[in-house]
Amino acid sequence: PVERSFVLLKPDAVRRGLVGAVLARFEAKGLRIVALELRHVTGELADQHYAEHVDRDFYPPLRKFVTSGPSVALIVEGDQAIEVVRALNGATDGRKAAPGTIRGDYSLSNRENLVHGSDSPESAAREIALWFPDLG
Ligand code: CMP
Repeated sequence: PVERSFVLLKPDAVRRGLVGAVLARFEAKGLRIVALELRHVTGELADQHYAEHVDRDFYPPLRKFVTSGPSVALIVEGDQAIEVVRALNGATDGRKAAPGTIRGDYSLSNRENLVHGSDSPESAAREIALWFPDLG
């Protein structure tokens, strides 16, 4: 089925000048960009986005990182977009992510892993409504 997934290119992607390289992979795969915006994430938005992680040990440094500079928020659309984005992103830990994936090729960190993608249809709906209320 045609799905929409929420994607966040985190501050490390912007800082390192990898926005174009990462977007090119989504586009080359055939995913269509239906919304895109440069956003400096506030602590409040980070807490809402990562609601399921706010009590985890790794959350305070993650919150600091994700609010440390501008990010690029987007929505992509395509057949099985949620699973396809996750496959393109690779495993969460860049050190373990397979070469050929975005994290596997560009990240050496479990936190600064360049990109977030919705992990299920339910989280995609929640994240799209949170980040792009006009499209939710
Ligand atoms: P993301 O796909 O955005 O979802 C949660 C984020 O938390 C994850 O990518 C990483 O940036 C971060 N993260 C997850 N697990 C850890 C961990 N063990 N240590 C540090 N950061 C983590």
